[in-house]
Amino acid sequence: MAELIPEVEWDGVLEKAKSSKRIIIIGEVDTGKSSFAKYLIKNLIQREPVCFIDSDIGQSSIGLPTTIALKIYKEKNIEENQYEEVTIDFDKIFFVGFTTPSISPDIFLSEFTKASEFAQVLNIKTVVDTTGFVSGEMAKRIKLEKISILKPDLVIAFERKGELNHILTEIKTETIILKPSRNITPRSPIKRAEYRMKKFKKYFKNAESYAISKKFLYETLSGNIEGSLVGIFQEECLALGVIESLDKENLFFLSPPIDIRAVKKIKLGKVNLKNLIDENV
Ligand SMILES: Nc1ncnc2c1ncn2[C@@H]1O[C@H](COP(=O)(O)OP(=O)(O)O)[C@@H](O)[C@H]1O
Ligand SMILES: [Mg+2]
Repeated sequence: MAELIPEVEWDGVLEKAKSSKRIIIIGEVDTGKSSFAKYLIKNLIQREPVCFIDSDIGQSSIGLPTTIALKIYKEKNIEENQYEEVTIDFDKIFFVGFTTPSISPDIFLSEFTKASEFAQVLNIKTVVDTTGFVSGEMAKRIKLEKISILKPDLVIAFERKGELNHILTEIKTETIILKPSRNITPRSPIKRAEYRMKKFKKYFKNAESYAISKKFLYETLSGNIEGSLVGIFQEECLALGVIESLDKENLFFLSPPIDIRAVKKIKLGKVNLKNLIDENV
């Protein structure tokens, strides 16, 4: 990852963020949201713990694609995994199952509500990163809904040229509008897909094979489900898995080491990782 170059106006925003309880960062893809979130957290934790909700289910920074990730930063120094191309570093994940909220805004928002409620209970400063889905009515509805769920006292909006206007005009919360940094390296859709694959590859690197009774399945499976991504739950999401096969009684899946006896539910996602699994064997 390229070295982050803070912009001059970020200092002022940081000051404002110090006295805010909940902060949400919005903007199109490649406007520097995640980099700015990192800058904020790094500076804010010098004073107090910060809960970070990475709700970008496509280009997750700390979490895994298809999930909303949450991490509580307490240490005065963020560990910089500078030599790693992709970072996976979260305390909790909320399984959404797909990589763009437009697939099912309701599922996305319901998982976002769970993450927000968790942060609400922690009662510490919270920073939220979001997806770059901002154009059109549906994107607007999702962003406004997220704001009404989180109840931020500060919105930070990265805007190139009017693309957030339709959303910003409806936000009642104090909003700071920033210009995206000139140092941003844009990523093509192919690069973004590759990034997701790298995350999954890393996550499933030491995956093991498990069998579980089909009665734990949340929905009935049909068709060719080999390679399908699943969320593995106790009450909360424990891990992600990939379906290997199915027989009369059991479902066979790969996942990072888990306590299989703790599993109470398996939920099907809308992503297929068959290629990734084939490469691994
Ligand atoms: N201020 C900055 N200085 C240097 N590089 C930056 C800066 N802001 C963003 N980048 C780089 O630009 C790319 C996109 O930024 P990112 O923060 O991931 O955007 P977003 O989260 O809005 O998609 C990343 O590779 C990031 O490292
Ligand atoms: Mg981002």
